[in-house]
Amino acid sequence: MNVAQSLIELPSDLVPEKMPRHVAVIMDGNGRWAKKRSLPRVVGHQKGVDALKNLLRCCDDWGIGVLTAYAFSTENWGRPRLEVDFLMTLFEGVLRRELAEMMTEGVKIRFVGDLTVLPASLQREIAYAMDTTANNKGIQFNVATNYGGRQEILHACRHIATQVQEGKLQVEDINEDIFENHLYTKGIINPDLLIRTSGEMRLSNFLLWQMAYGEMYVTSTLWPDFNRQEFHQALLDYQKRDRRFGKVKEE
Ligand code: FPP
Repeated sequence: MNVAQSLIELPSDLVPEKMPRHVAVIMDGNGRWAKKRSLPRVVGHQKGVDALKNLLRCCDDWGIGVLTAYAFSTENWGRPRLEVDFLMTLFEGVLRRELAEMMTEGVKIRFVGDLTVLPASLQREIAYAMDTTANNKGIQFNVATNYGGRQEILHACRHIATQVQEGKLQVEDINEDIFENHLYTKGIINPDLLIRTSGEMRLSNFLLWQMAYGEMYVTSTLWPDFNRQEFHQALLDYQKRDRRFGKVKEE
């Protein structure tokens, strides 16, 4: 077997039937990674893009159908102006640079969040990338940008309330399925596994509704250092979990 073949092979200690279908990731620690090296914070974000690309490829290689990354939260606007501007330009550049490769690899990209307040040029690039990759059949890659779980829930409530007001929906008919259809993540299965790097043990307003029964894995590794070996460890840990979804196990 050559190296290329062995790379795409699932490690033998992972059980194919127990792989998560959807992995979400909070890419934390870019700033600290840069600070440790006396580099500007933004270099950490640049390195973070490489780590994300590697994870996307690894998910695809190992048969995971959906990856969702938290790229920019509704709270991140409170960062220094220069860093926010850098991130917006970085997202735009990555989209432009990576589109051809996403097409070759069959990646279907989608942005989730309130995109209406992003810079116009970024909105155009996002729309173009989403349209161009819409019919791709490979991994679905969701990028949460200007995303906040609470804002998403409020947004859904307003939509549903409007439908009730207009007589298109009865209050008694509102259920989980209808609610999910008004979230930014409409049509995306809930994450099975959420990975957070850099040691922080919180959700930070990410996928609040969707993570009701998702498993969490936290590693102290800073995001730019997160690699295939780390992901392998996270999956091994995940496969040991007993997912009961609030029920008791039948004997
Ligand atoms: C958190 O680290 C990271 C971010 C807010 C930005 C993450 C964005 C990327 C890696 C780019 C992704 C690009 C695309 C197009 C999907 P931090 O700055 O909070 O680190 P710190 O906690 O050490 O300060």
